[in-house]
Amino acid sequence: MASSIYTHYPWVSRPLIANAPMADFAGARLATSVTMAGGLGFIGSAMNAGALSTELEKAKSLLSSSQIAISSTLPIGVGFLIFAEKLENVVAVIAQHRPAVIWLSCPPESQDFAIWAKAMRTASPESRIWIQISGVAAAVEVAQLCAPDVLVLQAADAGGHGRSPGAGLVSLIPESRDELDAAGFSKIPVIGAGGVGDGRGVAAALACGADGVLMGTAFLASIEVDLPAKEYQEAILEAVDGGVNTVRGTIFDDIRAKIIWPTRYDGRALTSPSYQDYLDGVGLHELKKKYADSITGSDKGFGGERRAVIWAGSAVGLVKEVKAAGDIVRELRETSKAAFDRACSKF
Ligand SMILES: Cc1cc2nc3c(=O)[nH]c(=O)nc-3n(C[C@H](O)[C@H](O)[C@H](O)COP(=O)(O)O)c2cc1C
Repeated sequence: MASSIYTHYPWVSRPLIANAPMADFAGARLATSVTMAGGLGFIGSAMNAGALSTELEKAKSLLSSSQIAISSTLPIGVGFLIFAEKLENVVAVIAQHRPAVIWLSCPPESQDFAIWAKAMRTASPESRIWIQISGVAAAVEVAQLCAPDVLVLQAADAGGHGRSPGAGLVSLIPESRDELDAAGFSKIPVIGAGGVGDGRGVAAALACGADGVLMGTAFLASIEVDLPAKEYQEAILEAVDGGVNTVRGTIFDDIRAKIIWPTRYDGRALTSPSYQDYLDGVGLHELKKKYADSITGSDKGFGGERRAVIWAGSAVGLVKEVKAAGDIVRELRETSKAAFDRACSKF
């Protein structure tokens, strides 16, 4: 039996709903709205320790007006893309602000998880370590490497970056749970992420054995998300049929001026003219030029032809209106229960 995830996050209501630590997108406003609604709010670090510290200060001030106690840790999480961060730059920020959760993802090599987990535990012993991975073997490997407090199982449907190939949540969660149990890690809770767009998806993930659910794409339609342009959110709301109109690939990174991602990662985004050109055989040089030209406008390339990259998961078609992040969390709790009850009535 996985140990109860609720012990360490006393403000969290059941079932646990979290927003993804989307670097540049998930700041203090989003994280605190999620936490104040009884979810687990995450800030995504965007390779700038100074900016992260400012967001954490902001989060502390926003939370101070809520009923949620700030005790030994700050009741939010902070996510790091390991490949992009310098460990020595963020250790002091973590020691100072002590977030309840430290999220680690996307290392150059799996062993980096162990190095980071050790440093983070030293910097803030009461923070819990959550690690996001994308496969069954990776879940067991990471459990062996660094005993994470929670494993986040990222399915192939997920928006943004991850490792391919991968499976959908309905096979990834149960198989990972079985293998973790068999390897002696039955106490590590698992969170499902990727392709969940509403309460029905939350109920499905829980039925598959998840101890909570994390979403990125759904929160792209929140009031509090930080977006590079309003057209980004318009594109999210307009998108339908996410399995067809989003795709995973490296092309979305390849067309940018600077490629920072290690080759083992790709990302899911809305299909775009650049993607279509790529399928039609247009060369990378030409694609890069078109992309660079498109992002100079006031809409930064997110409007018009939409050559700027709009990261989104395959649940994007379920995301239809902009809401306060807290309302998204509350609605997910209610509708997942209703979905579960409906499912039970079919037995
Ligand atoms: C716009 C966007 C940005 C993301 N940025 C990050 C990030 O900085 N770090 C990270 O670990 N995951 C990131 N992710 C992936 C999420 O952690 C998560 O796996 C994903 O959002 C779950 O799938 P969903 O989008 O279908 O809900 C991002 C996802 C999106 C949509």
